[in-house]
Amino acid sequence: MLFKTRTHTCGELRQDNIGQQVVLNGWVDTRRDLGGLIFIDLRDRYGLTQVVFEPSFDKEAHQFAAKLRTEFVVSVEGTVRKRPPETDNPKIPTGHIDVMVKKLVILNEAQTPPFPINDDNVNASEDLRLKYRYLDLRRPSVQNNMLLRHRMYQITRQYFDKQGFIEVETPVLMKSTPEGARDYLVPSRLHAGKFYALPQSPQTYKQLLMVAGMDRYFQIVKCFRDEDLRADRQPEFTQIDVEMSFIDQENIFGVVEGLMKILFMEIWNKELRIPIPRLSFDEAMEKYGSDKPDLRFNLEMKTLNGVFANTSFKVFQDQLKSKGTITGLLAPGCGEYTRNQLDVLTDFVKKIGAGGLIWMRVKPDGLDAPISKFLSDEEKKNLVETLGAKPGDLIFMITGPRLKAFSIMGSLRLEMARRLDLIKPDAEPKLLWVTDFPLLEWDEQTKRYYAMHHPFTSPRLEDVELMESDPGNVKARAYDLVLNGNEIAGGSIRIHNSELQAKMFKTLGISDEEADYKFGFLMNAFKYGAPPHGGIAFGFDRMVMLFAGESSIRDVIAFPKTASAVSLMDDCPSTVSEEQLKELHLKIK
Ligand code: AMO
Repeated sequence: MLFKTRTHTCGELRQDNIGQQVVLNGWVDTRRDLGGLIFIDLRDRYGLTQVVFEPSFDKEAHQFAAKLRTEFVVSVEGTVRKRPPETDNPKIPTGHIDVMVKKLVILNEAQTPPFPINDDNVNASEDLRLKYRYLDLRRPSVQNNMLLRHRMYQITRQYFDKQGFIEVETPVLMKSTPEGARDYLVPSRLHAGKFYALPQSPQTYKQLLMVAGMDRYFQIVKCFRDEDLRADRQPEFTQIDVEMSFIDQENIFGVVEGLMKILFMEIWNKELRIPIPRLSFDEAMEKYGSDKPDLRFNLEMKTLNGVFANTSFKVFQDQLKSKGTITGLLAPGCGEYTRNQLDVLTDFVKKIGAGGLIWMRVKPDGLDAPISKFLSDEEKKNLVETLGAKPGDLIFMITGPRLKAFSIMGSLRLEMARRLDLIKPDAEPKLLWVTDFPLLEWDEQTKRYYAMHHPFTSPRLEDVELMESDPGNVKARAYDLVLNGNEIAGGSIRIHNSELQAKMFKTLGISDEEADYKFGFLMNAFKYGAPPHGGIAFGFDRMVMLFAGESSIRDVIAFPKTASAVSLMDDCPSTVSEEQLKELHLKIK
């Protein structure tokens, strides 16, 4: 179809253009047909422009315009004029002008969309929006998210390039070495019964690039993990992956802080003060009950083992004997919570594994609580002092094995912050490093240790000898970057010597044969002069989500999958033909 290409975008015309002949191309956003007068808002990625059809401008165009419906694709030609005062709209940049149309070409008609394409009226379900994602993506807010994502890619690439990093692509078909999440597998046609895996991250490749002397590597890269999904997890997601040689933790922090400083300024126009504050894993767990604490509000937990060291209250005695923890949280001003409200909170903590929730209302004349009679006056006084409690406040206590009790109280802390509305939309963003993670995590079900970060993470050198005698107490040279309670990056200094790597596999209960089968290539590489190295990977989608002020990473991914890993738009995953299965030597059971 013959049509004139645009002279301007739909976001471009201003009063300076009044009197000019222009051509606009775009979608019909809204139409108002007043009979003698038809107003159309024309939309493209850049904005909206009102165009007007009137018989006196052009009779034929006016007649033809009666056919227009929302989402038709059109080209219009006409003259820019100052809007009549009654239609002036200072809310949009093009709001002082409109275009008197002389010629209209309909480039394509459109069926009525299943939901309105605008931001004011988004009551369509997310499933429907994902099924018609190409229409959802026409909404200005989603387009803005894509634009923000684009800007963040560009800033990232420029930054790392300037810092001397080189972008290297690593394979998407790799060897299956599951650790942590499940692998997505790809059957081989040429090698019957064999499989490739999609990378959970380019971890081993980036370490091999260090052995290869690349020195400073980065990549914006897709990673694939077959794990339970949440609002901040997708089966395929994007990392900014980074690795550096001849460095220690401080060098990595320096590079990361430089990038965050630029992003804060460019995206939020905020000055980020560096160095970014640090908190050890132990401290983060004890004070906030989380390894990704949200520091936009205070509510600090306090360990009360000292207060109850000589207690005669059996529940506390038992905990202390079995090396457990009593952790307390003060909910300021919640002393009037009803029994019903407290029952709801008790259920909340029980659902996440607590034996129960101890609560105490702070009254001017003492503590009002079911357990009050079991505590001595001295204990009550110390408790109030330690928590800084005042009449009208509410005290919560949870007991249990250390990390478990902390983490349950951490969830209650977040829940109370929600109930007390402590996180204001304009709260200053809070960024912090969490450092000194444990190297290993004990799994009760399988009765073995797992690497808390991944098996290539170096133990703290002074702890190496504990790896056999007291593995649970070995700290790792690992760190996470946390923004507003979200883990946005994680990394570590790596093991770069094959003996220590073998020791680590042994600690993880991975046999020599299994280690050799899965990771022999890496251990071998370490025998040929591996430099000390370390790195980090950012969850790029999560970062964009936070910088965009969204609460789901699906909002910043062009074609995301649902929480059950389905793409509703193209109906994937889907079955394949017998023929394809046969070629791949597969049979569906
Ligand atoms: P890690 O597994 O911590 O480290 O991942 C790095 C960051 O990626 C993000 N992330 C995810 N984002 C969306 N969906 C997911 N399913 C998902 N899983 C993780 C998180 C996380 O902080 N190779 C190491 C990095 C290293 O040691 O250098 C790694 O992948 O924001």
